[in-house]
Amino acid sequence: MAKYIVKKSVPLRGEVEISGAKNAVLPLMAATLLNPEECVIRSVPDLKDVQVMMEILESLGASIDVTAPGEFSISSRQIKTTEAPFNLVSKMRASFLVMGPLLGREGVARIPLPGGCSIGARPIDLHLKGFRALGADIIMHEDGAFSYVEAAAGPKGLIGDRIYLDFPSVGATENIMMAAVLALGTTYIENAAEEPEIVDLANFLNKMGAKIKGAGTDTIRIEGVKSLHAVKHTVIPDRIEAGTFMLAAAITKGHVTITNVLPDHVKPIIAKLRECGVRIEEGDDYLEVMGDQGPLVSTDIKTLPYPGFPTDMQSPFMAFLTVCNGNSTVIETVFESRFMHVAQLNKMGASIETAGSRAFVKGNSRLRGCEVMATDLRAGAAMVLAGLVAEGQTEISEIYHIERGYENFIEKMRGLGADISKVES
Ligand code: EPZ
Repeated sequence: MAKYIVKKSVPLRGEVEISGAKNAVLPLMAATLLNPEECVIRSVPDLKDVQVMMEILESLGASIDVTAPGEFSISSRQIKTTEAPFNLVSKMRASFLVMGPLLGREGVARIPLPGGCSIGARPIDLHLKGFRALGADIIMHEDGAFSYVEAAAGPKGLIGDRIYLDFPSVGATENIMMAAVLALGTTYIENAAEEPEIVDLANFLNKMGAKIKGAGTDTIRIEGVKSLHAVKHTVIPDRIEAGTFMLAAAITKGHVTITNVLPDHVKPIIAKLRECGVRIEEGDDYLEVMGDQGPLVSTDIKTLPYPGFPTDMQSPFMAFLTVCNGNSTVIETVFESRFMHVAQLNKMGASIETAGSRAFVKGNSRLRGCEVMATDLRAGAAMVLAGLVAEGQTEISEIYHIERGYENFIEKMRGLGADISKVES
């Protein structure tokens, strides 16, 4: 299995360009199933998860051409099957996002149940609550590893209705929004997720002829339409990748300019890093992050749905807090078990204790490189950040997690002066 070798690095300096957002492009790709005409998506990041979504769409009947670097032309003229393949769905939870578009366009869908993962059970009850509200019959086929869910719309197709989400689930908001685009009548999603990726999806759907209002607020209104047309769209920048490089500049006390970023999307990270003594200059589409402006002090973090502090930044930010002056508390409110990285950081000499959804982080740790593992995508990034300032060498295994979500991660880090390399073992 391949590993990353990370050595104590100099303060990072230079410029890094952020790629298109993984968590935006995956729902955008799923949404193309609604549209029989050509969908051109630009700024598509070169990620394993994108590859898996491509294969799933092709298995359902889509034809996909890469017409330029990062530019995909996707056409689902005919849907040839409404059953997503087990072997592909099991690789990536986000593949469940094809259920809404298939149900909306074809009136039927059969999708393997997405697995849980190291950060939580990842249930789909809110997705199914939404589909039922639109008139779909849902049948669960529980058969161990081959469990799947079958949905079938009524004789007139899906009928718009009002849906309240008990939790502002990103995926449920996206799935229900896509299912409602071609439904009869109007749908309201209440207590909807407000993430920028939801807004990007709504913009994409509106450009192809949908009638969606309120994306980015807690109530989204979708007025059903009869048909959709060709569309071209550029994916928003990846706010979590941007936050990761902001932290790389901060933890190494460097000075890094981050381009192709929307500062509005990373407000909580900017605010929290400023509380820690990091200086940040904001441009329209860039940030200048300076960790060399004075002592770095700890602050407390509580993850919340957008616009709160993003759960995906919790583990990378915790790595940073271990070397700041002072102690801090990190509260994870979105996922029920997103502290798997704590044991890995403690192995490197951090001193973090957890109790339920709280982690108590001692500052001023002298981290030492050793063998650690990436327990999920963002925890892997946290281990790289820790390795940049740890004495000696840090070997990170299970790096396939990291490469699922960060395009050209090694190259971008090395471009800033990080001492990081990939070895096949
Ligand atoms: C999306 O996952 C992201 N993934 C996650 O990013 C991100 O951490 C998460 O949103 C929260 O921001 C993609 O967009 C592909 P949720 P999603 O549904 O949609 C509970 C990364 O590292 N819930 O908002 O699966 C659930 O258990 C990944 O890039 C239900 O109870 O997240 C969790 O506690 C990790 N019932 C909470 O909501 C449901 O039906 C948030 O989940 C659905 C969710």
